[in-house]
Amino acid sequence: MSDAWSIRAAERRDVPELLQIEVAQFPEPWTRAMMLDEITNVETRRYTVAVEGKKIIGYLGVMFVMDEVHVNTLGTLPGYEGRGVATSLMNDAWAVAKEKGVHRATLEVAVSNTRAQELYFRFGFSPVGVRKNYYERTHEDALILWAELD
Ligand SMILES: CC(C)(COP(=O)(O)OP(=O)(O)OC[C@H]1O[C@@H](n2cnc3c(N)ncnc32)[C@H](O)[C@@H]1OP(=O)(O)O)[C@@H](O)C(=O)NCCC(=O)NCCS
Repeated sequence: MSDAWSIRAAERRDVPELLQIEVAQFPEPWTRAMMLDEITNVETRRYTVAVEGKKIIGYLGVMFVMDEVHVNTLGTLPGYEGRGVATSLMNDAWAVAKEKGVHRATLEVAVSNTRAQELYFRFGFSPVGVRKNYYERTHEDALILWAELD
C-alpha cells in the first residue's frame, strides 16, 4: 500500500506548522528565527515535510558537511506517529545523500528518547559516545550516533 502522504521541500510558509510540531514534540523547541534560518539555508541544509491533504504531518532537517549528513531535526505531528512518516522522511533523505556521495551520517539524541533511537538503529546508527548535559533546559545527556551509508 502506498503512503497517504507525499514529501516535498519545506518552504517559508510552512514555518508556523513546523513550530507547532516543535512545541508539541520537543522540550526545547526551536524559535521561528532558527527554523527560518535553517529552511532557507539551502546551500547546506535540506528540509523536507510530509504532507497529508493540506496538513504537515512530519518534517526532517538534515545538513550536509563534506561527505557526511547530520540529522538536525525530525518530528512527527502528535496523533500521526507509528505510521511510518519519520521512516519515509529518512528514506527520502538517505536516497538524496547517497546520490550526493555521502558516506556517513551522525546525530545527537536524548538518552531517554528510546522511540527515536529505535528508528535510528533501524537506519544503521549506533552509539559512539555521550555529550554530557547536552540539552540546556532538561540538562539531559545526548547519545552521539553514527552510521555508514555504504
Ligand atoms: C521519533 C519520531 C520522529 C518517530 O516518528 P514516527 O513517524 O512515529 O516514526 P515511524 O512511524 O516511521 O516509526 C515508528 C514506529 O512505527 C512503526 N511503523 C512504521 N510504519 C508503520 C505503519 N505503516 N503502521 C504502523 N506502524 C508503523 C515502526 O515500525 C516504528 O516502530 P517502533 O515504534 O517499534 O520503533 C516521533 O515519535 C517524534 O516526533 N518524536 C518526538 C520528537 C523526536 O524525538 N525527534 C527525534 C529527535 S532526535
